[in-house]
Amino acid sequence: MPNLIIVNKKIKKFNKEITVSGDKSISIRWVLFSSLATGISKAQNLLMSEDVLAAIKAIKKLGINVKFNKNECKVYGRGINGYQFKKNLTLNAENSGTLGRLILGLLINTKYPIKLIGDKSLSKRDFKRITDPLSNFGATFNLKDKKNLPLIINGSSNLKSFKYLEKRGSAQCKSAVILGGMKSDGTTFIKAKKSRNHTELLCKYLNLPISVKSKKNYDLIKVNKVKKIKAFNYKIPSDISSSAFFIVLATLSQNSKIVIKNVNINPSRIGIITILKKMGVKIIFKNKKIYKGEQNADIEVTSPKTLKSINCPTRLNSGAIDEFLVIFLIAAKAKGVSYFKDLAELDQKESPRLQWGAKILSKMGIKVIVTKNSIKIFGNPNLNININKKIIIKDYLKDHRVFMTSIIAGLTFGGTWEIHDKDSIKTSFPNFLTIINDLKR
Ligand code: S3P
Repeated sequence: MPNLIIVNKKIKKFNKEITVSGDKSISIRWVLFSSLATGISKAQNLLMSEDVLAAIKAIKKLGINVKFNKNECKVYGRGINGYQFKKNLTLNAENSGTLGRLILGLLINTKYPIKLIGDKSLSKRDFKRITDPLSNFGATFNLKDKKNLPLIINGSSNLKSFKYLEKRGSAQCKSAVILGGMKSDGTTFIKAKKSRNHTELLCKYLNLPISVKSKKNYDLIKVNKVKKIKAFNYKIPSDISSSAFFIVLATLSQNSKIVIKNVNINPSRIGIITILKKMGVKIIFKNKKIYKGEQNADIEVTSPKTLKSINCPTRLNSGAIDEFLVIFLIAAKAKGVSYFKDLAELDQKESPRLQWGAKILSKMGIKVIVTKNSIKIFGNPNLNININKKIIIKDYLKDHRVFMTSIIAGLTFGGTWEIHDKDSIKTSFPNFLTIINDLKR
């Protein structure tokens, strides 16, 4: 079977309730934290995607036993310094920036050097942003071309804390330093631009000696050495970043409605909701609950009659960082010109996403002006792509979000789309197409 998909029919109106798979950020954090815990931790609804399976393979190589039973995953943690492995170990983070970066924070005190590799996309991404701060603890790194994978980490048995200023709003950098701080003597001080705070919430739930003071634009985090983490169970909520594709599908399909069950709506993740509401979309949170410090709710979206353009406030960027490709589709249909700025970080993702966003919209016949860190989108509320127009999406470094965005565009704007590298969705959302097919019925 060819590894591509053809979309040449718009989706009909729908009114459905769906459940998307577990949150990727929380799943990877659960795997890593449970590998440091003492005893057996269990997770339900862990995301079974390649990124999370890569995390499981990595902790197994570090001597941690993992078992699956139906919808449950069990990790047999060996304590905070319990990793056991032989010399010449290579870990493969595959496509996952979160795994590749966070795990380095846990390896800064390992006995033997470890090699970290990744796939073609991850090998193009910046790892200096993580090894520079982690070097301050006392570990040393050798990177390809001084910034990329493969890299070799040399741990130190004499780790000391330091003061870290995180300016990008990168949760991966912040989290790696928190994890490093948990293994180091003294107090690690972090001043971090706001970004997703799943690591901090997990630390709080686990009663670890970590404190967070929230200021308007940044957080002040203090991390002290952790002696023990008790094994813990977790029911992973659904992923807002996976839900985003269905939020946008419902928004762009006329007279449609969708309810997405039990989604994580951590305030640091819901930039897409704020942006879409400003553009005129009706979105309601129902059955709100707090679970282990995380907010979860059902999300109800009703397609609006018209969409307004937006001059997107940059304070919303971090909370919507993984959703901009689909948000751009909303701007393509909005009345007027939308402007998104200060988005250089988008080109640091699995593919240069800002440029891919511009490429997809241009192929659809939408006028865009794109720079290194911004995009202006000239919306067309009447856009209806002719079925005879062929749009080919390929060579996008298998970026799962480029694939799913293209599917949503084909299902809502028309045209004949030939979208390659179908297996790219396995990294974050393996049952994406199954849910799409259910909505078509
Ligand atoms: C993530 C942080 C974000 C995000 C990524 C997941 C995380 O990356 O884009 O998909 O789980 O910490 P950055 O930290 O590079 O912004």
